[in-house]
Amino acid sequence: MSNNQPSASSKCVRVCQNRACKKQGAAKVLAAFKASVVPGVTVTPTGCLGQCGNGPMVLVLPDRIWYSGVRPYEVPMVVEQHLLDGHELKKML
Ligand code: FES
Repeated sequence: MSNNQPSASSKCVRVCQNRACKKQGAAKVLAAFKASVVPGVTVTPTGCLGQCGNGPMVLVLPDRIWYSGVRPYEVPMVVEQHLLDGHELKKML
């Protein structure tokens, strides 16, 4: 039962799957993140992030970067620029 992660660079993407965000398409956003797996990045569904109405909400840890109103087609952009290159996408914060 060993759990030899996380490494220093590991990130966690939390995608809100609560009611308000779900209505705004959070399930597809979660699926899009799961479809583009990045080594060292975990993608998990989460309960309400307290930002209802601006959803779907996505939180990237440990950076504590929030993205609001995320669309599935924007996910590859977040993955490439934030998760791989380390630049958050300002316009979506
Ligand atoms: S339902 Fe997603 S932030 Fe509240």
